[in-house]
Amino acid sequence: MRKYKVAVIVGSNRRDSINRKLAEALIRLGGDRLSFSLVRIDDLPLYNQDLEADLPGSVRRFKADIAAADGVLFVTPEHNRSIPAVLKNAIDWGGRPYGQNSWAGKPVAITGTSPGVISSALAQQHLRVILGSSLGAQVMGGEAYIAFKPGLIDDAGAIADDSTRAFLDAFLDQFATLVRRLSVDAELREAAA
Ligand SMILES: Cc1cc2nc3c(=O)[nH]c(=O)nc-3n(C[C@H](O)[C@H](O)[C@H](O)COP(=O)(O)O)c2cc1C
Repeated sequence: MRKYKVAVIVGSNRRDSINRKLAEALIRLGGDRLSFSLVRIDDLPLYNQDLEADLPGSVRRFKADIAAADGVLFVTPEHNRSIPAVLKNAIDWGGRPYGQNSWAGKPVAITGTSPGVISSALAQQHLRVILGSSLGAQVMGGEAYIAFKPGLIDDAGAIADDSTRAFLDAFLDQFATLVRRLSVDAELREAAA
């Protein structure tokens, strides 16, 4: 069966990011079903509408990465009970210029981790509203709040906790199904046009 392409966006630009570790573990776990690629957001300029007349190269590359993907997986920390600024900046660039919204109709799945008790839940809820309500992405239902504990991810980069691994495996299965269904729908619509 065809492997659909998924762009992975980590909402942290920190070198030792636990969300990047989780994203890499998800890429290992779901690599049999989906073809993942990590998309860079740390070199995007701070959004400024003045730059839209001649889009910076990093913004063009970012928008091309999203356009080439059949779906997008977000793995994000929570900063002050919302999404980090570096992630909001990338999302704003993706939505612009007017009429060139990279997120419209894109299948999206959201997860994230934090050492805190609510495990990035509020950031994920905000992200759901931004992408789904405002930008028209097809955000997958369900919730995946991952508590980061020592030993969650082993030295080889795999999810060591059995129940978390099983939960995330089901989460990736659900996302693979959504990406396939929406991609086939789009292909059928194109063929009929
Ligand atoms: C500016 C800032 C705000 C934070 N706010 C929250 C928060 O609201 N909720 C939370 O669970 N953790 C919060 N944290 C802690 C992060 O969960 C923790 O730093 C985590 O490692 C960030 O993910 P990363 O390692 O992928 O960058 C905050 C951290 C920073 C630097």
